[in-house]
Amino acid sequence: MQNVIAVGRQLYLRPLARADAAAFVPWVNDPEVTRTLAIGARAMDVRAEEAFIEKTNASAHDVLFGIVVQETDQLIGSTGLNQIDFRNHRASFGIMVGEKGAWGKGYGTEATALVVRYAFEKLYLNRVQLHVYEYNLRGIRAYEKVGFRREGVLRQEHVYDGRLWDTVVMAILREEWEEKPALPASDPCKT
Ligand SMILES: CC(C)(COP(=O)(O)OP(=O)(O)OC[C@H]1O[C@@H](n2cnc3c(N)ncnc32)[C@H](O)[C@@H]1OP(=O)(O)O)[C@@H](O)C(=O)NCCC(=O)NCCS
Repeated sequence: MQNVIAVGRQLYLRPLARADAAAFVPWVNDPEVTRTLAIGARAMDVRAEEAFIEKTNASAHDVLFGIVVQETDQLIGSTGLNQIDFRNHRASFGIMVGEKGAWGKGYGTEATALVVRYAFEKLYLNRVQLHVYEYNLRGIRAYEKVGFRREGVLRQEHVYDGRLWDTVVMAILREEWEEKPALPASDPCKT
């Protein structure tokens, strides 16, 4: 494990660097991966990925982490917080497990829990929110397992595959996490 930001049971999070951009290119150009992402289906090359990583790393209002499997040290995607609002102690959550062979193994749930714990423990945020398309049942299930609650629906907010879909708004509050944390508090020696 290198440059560890947060450690879970099977995964760890680490910063992303320019050199990681190439790994993301096949993922962000795969319609099966992007069908549930706001970036949608548009061609992205390695330069665009490098620029995205550098811009996000330079931002005071975003954090971006690579998701890595501890056992193999394999990078399987990215996650993080954006639009961090320190005045109102809130941020928006995002995740992409780009490696499709890694879906359905609990990694998305664990990475989400690691970022939520980071938001509450390290950034002292109070609220983490997200938008998820109604047809992203895998995502909704993962977020519910971490403790996100459905707060509402943006009706017919999104077009995919020739039809309109609702977007579900979900959030988790610090008090909800503290009452029922999906992961134990981090070990300050290991983060
Ligand atoms: C969404 C995503 C983060 C989920 O990660 P993951 O590692 O596949 O999810 P997990 O294995 O942790 O959990 C998925 C849960 O959904 C369940 N699930 C899978 N398919 C499902 C379906 N069609 N209906 C309902 N639940 C489903 C799984 O059974 C599992 O729940 P369980 O542990 O109770 O059995 C990941 O698939 C991903 O990045 N997809 C592409 C990009 C994306 O959608 N990003 C999020 C945008 S909001």
